[in-house]
Amino acid sequence: MTIKNTLKQYQQRVDAYLDQTVLKDSIEPRLQETMRYALFNGGKRVRPILVYMVNQMLGGKLEDADAPAAAIECVHSYSLVHDDLPAMDDDDLRRGKPTCHIAFDEATAILAGDALQCFGFELLTQDESQPARNLKMVKVLAHASGDSGMVVGQAFDLANVGKSLTLEQLQAMHAHKTGALLNAAVDLGALSSGCNDSDTFSQLRRYGDAIGLAFQVKDDILDIEGDTETIGKPQGSDVEQDKPTYPALLGMDGAKEKLRQLHQEAVAAVQPFGDTAQPLVELADFIVNRDH
Ligand code: IPE
Ligand code: IPE
Ligand code: MG
Ligand code: MG
Ligand code: MG
Repeated sequence: MTIKNTLKQYQQRVDAYLDQTVLKDSIEPRLQETMRYALFNGGKRVRPILVYMVNQMLGGKLEDADAPAAAIECVHSYSLVHDDLPAMDDDDLRRGKPTCHIAFDEATAILAGDALQCFGFELLTQDESQPARNLKMVKVLAHASGDSGMVVGQAFDLANVGKSLTLEQLQAMHAHKTGALLNAAVDLGALSSGCNDSDTFSQLRRYGDAIGLAFQVKDDILDIEGDTETIGKPQGSDVEQDKPTYPALLGMDGAKEKLRQLHQEAVAAVQPFGDTAQPLVELADFIVNRDH
């Protein structure tokens, strides 16, 4: 199967699972409507795809990857809703549509983000036959999402608007705000397959670290070189807000060189898994070559 078809198959799979599990009605329909708006709007689903791919590479059952794949997409989508808020990046376009606080209102966007986050964790506890595995998954996702992961990366990002960072600081910021959730996707994929081997987790961590950083370096490049229609979010948002980014620190050529190195690191990290790692290699290619 071509990588395009593989990506599509996993996107459709996680979408169907989310559609079945996210509530459709409640005492406050607007909240559900906003959660659905934030989830079903053409996201690439890279984190769920990673969960599925690692699960399959390690010989797991695909159905055991559904809940963690959906869970991490809920946390990611919540992070985007909050990232776009006026108090954060103040952006009005996401995935080609008005951001949640524009389409609905700010309070509802905040609450929909809160609820998506909780729902993500709830999904991880769904399978009551696997309490030990579920506990590990909750721990992985919580650690990657909060003040050891995405949230602290976002706080560091906002605290450094207009300031110049060292390369180490920039790398740490990206590793937290974006890398942590991508690494968590890798770990969730491994856990969902029943893997308990610490060497496998460490080897996969090298892959996760490399694609996690590469993902945000590419995002920073697309902010400059992409066009609004293709990237589905306002082009030039980082430059306008004087955000610390790889192109801002290293120049565009330096950022692209960094991206090339990270791609090589990612590919090298999964070499020990041989042919079974081919989908992960192709996903790394997709991440560095994507246009949105
Ligand atoms: C955008 O993430 C925010 C970053 C962490 C760089 P994605 O590029 O995965 O966004 P969607 O989910 O496909 O919209
Ligand atoms: C955000 O980084 C990463 C998140 C944790 C949401 P950006 O602010 O660069 O993401 P985009 O460009 O708005 O998607
Ligand atoms: Mg941001
Ligand atoms: Mg943003
Ligand atoms: Mg960006």
